[in-house]
Order: sequence, then structure tokens, then C-alpha cells
Amino acid sequence: MVIEWGEEYETGYPLIDKGHRGIIEITNRLERLQGSGDTAEVGQVLCDLTDCVLMHFGYEEMFMQRVHYPGYDAHMLSHCEFFATLTRFIYAFETNESGLAPELQGFLSSWLAGHESKEDKEFVDYLARFHPDSLGL
Ligand SMILES: [Fe+2]
Ligand SMILES: [Fe+2]
Repeated sequence: MVIEWGEEYETGYPLIDKGHRGIIEITNRLERLQGSGDTAEVGQVLCDLTDCVLMHFGYEEMFMQRVHYPGYDAHMLSHCEFFATLTRFIYAFETNESGLAPELQGFLSSWLAGHESKEDKEFVDYLARFHPDSLGL
């Protein structure tokens, strides 16, 4: 199912939201390719997803360190777990002729609804409370 950007995904911090919009856009590209048999394009989209996620996580983690976010360790662990699972899906795709695992879509959707909408929002709430200048407040 294609994911529509909605209020529930808004954290309130523009660069973080921009990263999430990028991840949703790539997730939707994958959704449209399901069952297409176009493995070259799926491979390209998985590369784009990896790049986008790595850049986004790197940005969040650097920002968290800069403002001494107390939830940094748990948040980084959550990013690592996501990336380990994503890597398993990519490995399965690359070593399996049957194409992309349909579970990947569900995994990405639940990640967006869970981590990106909740845990990232907690970080932005922390910014609003302790570093309002960083939000232009
Ligand atoms: Fe995020
Ligand atoms: Fe995050």
C-alpha cells in the first residue's frame, strides 16, 4: 500500500521531516515495483533507500549528540536495529531469484509509523523544551 504523508508523520522539525518524506517516497517506489520483476530497478531503489536512511540517521545522531540528548543511546540502538533488519532484507533480495520479500513493505511502514512518528517526535519535543533556539522558537 502506498503511504501518504500526513500529520501523523510530522515531527515539527523541517530537516527531520524532509528526511522522513524522502524515506516515504522511496518506500512508495518499492511498493509500485512489487511484482514487476524489474530486479535492476528494485536494486537501484534499495541502494537509494540505504543512502537516504544512512544520511538521515547520521543527521539525527549528530544533532542529538550536539544537544546532549539523554535518549541518544536508545535512539541510536533503534537505528542500528532498523539497519540490521534492512540489511537482511537486501541480502535476501540479492541472493534470492524470487525478488523482493513482501514483508519489507510492512517493515518499512511500521518503522515509519513507530520510530519516525514517535521516537523522533520525542527528540523534537526535547528540542522544543530545552533548545527552543534550534527550532526558531
Ligand atoms: Fe528519523
Ligand atoms: Fe530516528
